[in-house]
Formats: sequence, C-alpha cells, structure tokens
Amino acid sequence: MFKKVLGKISKDIGIDLGTATTLVYVKGRGIVINEPSVVAVNQKTGQILAIGNEAKKMVGRTPAHISATRPLVEGVISDFEVTEQMLRYFINKVHKGTFSILPRPRVVVGIPSGITEVEKKAVQDATMNAGAREVYLVEEAMSAAIGARLPVQEALGNMVVDVGGGTADIAVISLGGIVASKTLRIAGDKLNEDIINFAQDEFKLILGEKTAEDIKIAVGAAYELEEPLETPMRGRDLVTGLPKEIIIDDSQIRKALSRSVKMIVDAVKETIENTPPELVADIMNRGIIMVGGGSLLRGFDKLLEEETKMPIKVEEDPLTTVARGTGIILEDVEKLKEVLVPLDYGEVPK
Ligand SMILES: Nc1ncnc2c1ncn2[C@@H]1O[C@H](COP(=O)(O)OP(=O)(O)OP(=O)(O)O)[C@@H](O)[C@H]1O
Ligand SMILES: [Mg+2]
Repeated sequence: MFKKVLGKISKDIGIDLGTATTLVYVKGRGIVINEPSVVAVNQKTGQILAIGNEAKKMVGRTPAHISATRPLVEGVISDFEVTEQMLRYFINKVHKGTFSILPRPRVVVGIPSGITEVEKKAVQDATMNAGAREVYLVEEAMSAAIGARLPVQEALGNMVVDVGGGTADIAVISLGGIVASKTLRIAGDKLNEDIINFAQDEFKLILGEKTAEDIKIAVGAAYELEEPLETPMRGRDLVTGLPKEIIIDDSQIRKALSRSVKMIVDAVKETIENTPPELVADIMNRGIIMVGGGSLLRGFDKLLEEETKMPIKVEEDPLTTVARGTGIILEDVEKLKEVLVPLDYGEVPK
C-alpha cells in the first residue's frame, strides 16, 4: 500500500544506458534526457569535470591529463565508478527543480542481453547507489520490442534487431521471454573504426572518431544506392603530417563497412536458424523490426530483407525505442514483471 502511494508521487525513471547515448524517460513526461554516455575525468585528481553533452565536446580535444571516456564499452560497463557517477548525474538532473521531499524513484534500466551476473549486479548497485529506491532490469532487446509495441506477452514470434553503438542485439521473443538471441560486439562504433582503417590503408589519412562517424552518417550505406553520394574526408596525412582532404563516395564507404555489416546479417540469419519453426512462420508474417542508430544506415533494411527473405521494418524514431520501452514498463510494472530480468540477489522484483 505504502509502495503504491510512493509510486504515484515519485518520478519513476526508465534509463537506456547505451554505449553511445543515455536516454532517460520520466513517467508522465516522456524522454527528458538524451545525452552522450561520455564522462570527462581529470586523471591527476580523479575529479569528474563534465558528463554528457559537455564531456562529448571534449573528446579528442583534451590535454593529456584529462580523459573524456565512455564508461560503457561494447555495451558493457568498463568503469563501474564512473558509470555510477554518470547515472547519479542523470537521475539528479531529473529531480532538479523539484522538492527534495520527493521519494527516491523506482528505476527501470535496459541492459544488453548476454551480460554476466556480475555485470548485472554492477548495474543494479550503480543505480541503487545513484539514488534509486528500487531497480528493475530489462534486456534491451525486450525493451526495444515493448517500445515498438510488439505483443511480447502473446504466444507469437516477435523479432527485433537493435544495432546500437557498441552492440548489435538480435532477439526472438514470445510469451514474455527471449526464445533465441545473439549479441555481437559489432555495431556503430565498429563501423566508425572500419572507416578509420579504410582511410589509413587506402589514403594514408588519419581520421578522428567523430570525423569517421560524420562520414558514415553522410554517405554510409549497406546497399547500392540509386543516387550516388559524396563527401569530403578530412584528416592528417600520415606521411607529411599535414592536413589533407579527399572526396569519397558511398560505394567506397559501403565496401569499407561490408565485412562488419555482413557479420551482423549473418548473426540475424543464425538467430532465425535457432528459432522454432512456428515462431519463424510468425516472423515471416509480421516481419523483423530494426531499432537503434545503426538501423539508420542507408539500405540496411533492404540488404537484410534480401538476405533473410523476411519483411523488415525500421522502427519510427529507432534511437529512442528502448527508452520508450522502459517507459511503458514503468506504466505497469505489475503487468510486465514477467519480462523483467530476475535478480538472483538482493531484492527480487515483486
Ligand atoms: N543516420 C545514421 N546512419 C548510420 N549510423 C547512425 C546514424 N545515426 C546514428 N548512427 C549510429 O548509431 C549509433 C548509436 O546508436 P544508439 O543510440 O542506438 O546506440 P546505443 O544505444 O548508445 O548503444 P548500445 O545499444 O550498443 O549500447 C552510433 O554508432 C551512431 O554513429
Ligand atoms: Mg542501445
């Protein structure tokens, strides 16, 4: 009873703790924070200088003793303390400007499928330490399916492919559970790296990470385009050390990305192979839903459709699907508790 009252007045929060971006959903208000998962730390003092947007601006531009780092690498927490600080910062930001007598929030956190028990515990502890009253964990793929309004609790095959920054999460969901899944540590970041390697190998040109990402978004493609695209690629000449600019087009970048893209496509195929036939029939009818920033790569849907022979739909607003899913869970935790990750320690979701 007391818990119910608390639930009504506290600002319950859903968090998509992404490798590239952290989104925070507040019950009744929608997505209120959408900032890079970046933290700038002074290595000499250990002091945190900036988090989120402010810290991202510092990437690649900091003096040696300041590091602008991402506390999550390949979808997994690499620095527990910094992640906790980042979560605390975002949770406090939501609570700022309201009366401090508000009860601490219940928090739903999206986690990558396939993370270990130790890592789950780390996310739970970080969220509790950051000020949560209760923590619920949900696999990102499940949250994505819920955000895409798929009927995850029915006896039906639902398939989602979430190509994020650090991981590509592929999952088939039925009756509130994940029936088949695969997580690859190949996604948006790897595509940026592919472009950096391509520039260096082909043109002896050194690119920054941000430049590589800009090129990917400007002309990147997984499938041959009808209208060719071009963009300048600016970097430092490996030989002379001076700035250099080269014009490149979509077909060059497509080639540079093709190996990684193929690995994601193959993982989708393998997941389908591991799915019971009845559910495969459902997916053939209903299609595969793509979410995450990587699903915006031109022609990715077309390539996947050709390779899997399944209809593909890119979710509207694919960068916020997981966060919206955590929001839907918050609206009715009771109804959706079977989809949450059971916690083998501490408080079990009731
Ligand atoms: N138009 C676009 N074309 C290609 N890639 C894009 C586009 N827009 C964003 N991206 C890429 O999407 C990735 C970020 O996606 P998203 O926000 O879904 O990841 P994340 O949730 O933070 O990561 P993860 O789920 O792996 O933890 C980045 O690598 C970014 O470069
Ligand atoms: Mg994500």
